[in-house]
Amino acid sequence: AVEDPGYPPPRLVLAARGVRVAPVPVDASGIVVRAIPAGTRLVYVTPSHQYPLGLSMSLERRLELLDWAERNDAVLVEDDYDTEFRYTGRPLEPLHSLDSRGRVVYVGSFSKVLSPALRLGFLIAPPSLVPALVKARYLTDWHAPNVEQAALAAFMAEGGFARHVRRMRKVYRERHELLTRSLASFADFLTPLPSSAGLHLSAVASSDCGPLVRAARRHGVRLYSLGDFGVGARRHGLVFGYGAVAAERIEPGLARLRALADGGAA
Ligand SMILES: Cc1ncc(COP(=O)(O)O)c(C=O)c1O
Repeated sequence: AVEDPGYPPPRLVLAARGVRVAPVPVDASGIVVRAIPAGTRLVYVTPSHQYPLGLSMSLERRLELLDWAERNDAVLVEDDYDTEFRYTGRPLEPLHSLDSRGRVVYVGSFSKVLSPALRLGFLIAPPSLVPALVKARYLTDWHAPNVEQAALAAFMAEGGFARHVRRMRKVYRERHELLTRSLASFADFLTPLPSSAGLHLSAVASSDCGPLVRAARRHGVRLYSLGDFGVGARRHGLVFGYGAVAAERIEPGLARLRALADGGAA
């Protein structure tokens, strides 16, 4: 089972392997546990910062999901892909820390915190799954790139990684705040969803944003339609990524988007 709306690659990879994948709705507290179909063996979730909605799974829902996994002899894959950048509040405990029964595979990535070009990530798995995971890795690409791993280990040991995270948290916080403030001028059709972490922000809309997204792209503004991440009931809205957009480019981009939404070509 996967979250709906959700990050498409896990759903597509599993489906390509012939696995039956059930999209399960997400509400304001996270994946709706009672909607997970009977017989489900694995659930992929993004509790810290739901992708793409940006919400955090509530503690109550985390505990309900862990309890469900135990009762159903299932595995939870917790994708904590951008947790290093948190702007307000304390993060809730990851499923992995709350799990006392070895139900959670915790997955991290260096794509957001450093660069997707690195292709480095990691996972922490219950001991019972390690032999199967090692075999799967051997059959896919044998091992992660050694030179990059060694360089990253040295970067961490020298303190460069921690400095990078501290510096970038400030940079991304500024973009996050600027984007949140600027979206007030779209209040006629967009409602930003609460988000206190990461490199993207989503907003729900009253109507389909596909045409606006396509027009924006033609005018050099790249954003995503929330509907593209849904499988069942598709939500209307926009997903704004600011990981690769300098603060000074945010307001001009939104001004162009505003003009397009008003029916003009900026
Ligand atoms: C939900 C989610 N998980 C994971 C990743 C990172 O994937 P990878 O480590 O394969 O680059 C991303 C990046 O966009 C993401 O949005």
